[in-house]
Amino acid sequence: MRAEQPATLKPPQEQGAAPAATAVAHPNIALIKYWGKRDEQLFLPRTDSLSMTLDIFPTTTRVRLAPEAEQDAVTLGGRPATGEAERRIVAFLDLVRERAGLSRRAVVDTENTVPTGAGLASSASGFAALAVAAAAAYGLTLDATALSRLARRGSGSASRSLFGDFAVWHAGTATGTATEADLSSYAEPVPAAGLDPALVIAVVNAGPKAISSRAAMRQTVDTSPLYEPWARSSTGDLADMRAALIRGDLEAVGEIAERNALGMHATMLAARPAVRYLSPATLTVLDSVGQLRRDGIAAYATMDAGPNVKVLCRRADADQVAAVVRGAAPQGSVHIAGPGPGARLLNEGG
Ligand code: DP6
Repeated sequence: MRAEQPATLKPPQEQGAAPAATAVAHPNIALIKYWGKRDEQLFLPRTDSLSMTLDIFPTTTRVRLAPEAEQDAVTLGGRPATGEAERRIVAFLDLVRERAGLSRRAVVDTENTVPTGAGLASSASGFAALAVAAAAAYGLTLDATALSRLARRGSGSASRSLFGDFAVWHAGTATGTATEADLSSYAEPVPAAGLDPALVIAVVNAGPKAISSRAAMRQTVDTSPLYEPWARSSTGDLADMRAALIRGDLEAVGEIAERNALGMHATMLAARPAVRYLSPATLTVLDSVGQLRRDGIAAYATMDAGPNVKVLCRRADADQVAAVVRGAAPQGSVHIAGPGPGARLLNEGG
């Protein structure tokens, strides 16, 4: 019954308006970390990684082609994007334009609900939403795998936010041509049985980080004597993690995630010069997580490129875990997340 569809559901091209698309994506938190690239141009990682997509802190991005404009116009939270943030978004749009064979500039408006640049994965939700919206606005028809590969070129971790619940991002083949390597590195869903997990997020400092994850991972790969051992052990962690997810074994999932994250931070501490994201407040929260475990609550911590702590636990325990974590970091804020949906296009009609 195509002819009876309301006009608002038609692609904008057919309405005579400039093509536009809006997408929403959620952040993901890695349980097996991505830390280190083997190709900075193509965003090919050194190791596989695995994450849980959250059901809070979505990013909504609208991309509208602007036929007359000479430059892209980008806003973040209503303010014009500047510096590195603007440069990364324009470079990403250039990639999309190249694939679409179009030169038209775009107007990009992004609303983040997560504190930007605080190690809370705003670049993951940001580039996942931008990939979906820009591909649609520029008329590219891409499946989820291709969208994941595209999002990867904006920020590696964004490749995983294309998918809901748990996702693994394949490092891809290390041999072969650049095209073969590019085709082989994408995320896909991971089966998990009977888990009812929550991530309790303790934001101990919502300010921007001192060093970007991109620069920090480069410095770690280049200078840390602990990097290679961690990368090797991460392969085993991933295999163990997949098995634990299939078993629905939350304790094992948590133990593996915690050791993988602490190992990643150890590689940074051994970099020259050292990279340290963890603060005194982080360690206080880690102590409280240890105490929760001694009290019989399954709670396990993971940290990214920032001082904030994400505590994996059963959803039934999340309120109790949140109360304990809040007591340990009273100056911060605490949020409870469950597994969330993958990135998706919103209907322009609403
Ligand atoms: C610590 O994806 O932000 O959060 O690819 O350079 O944009 P770029 O890095 P990014 O790094 C995320 C690192 C991490 C771990 C993870 O999410 O796997």
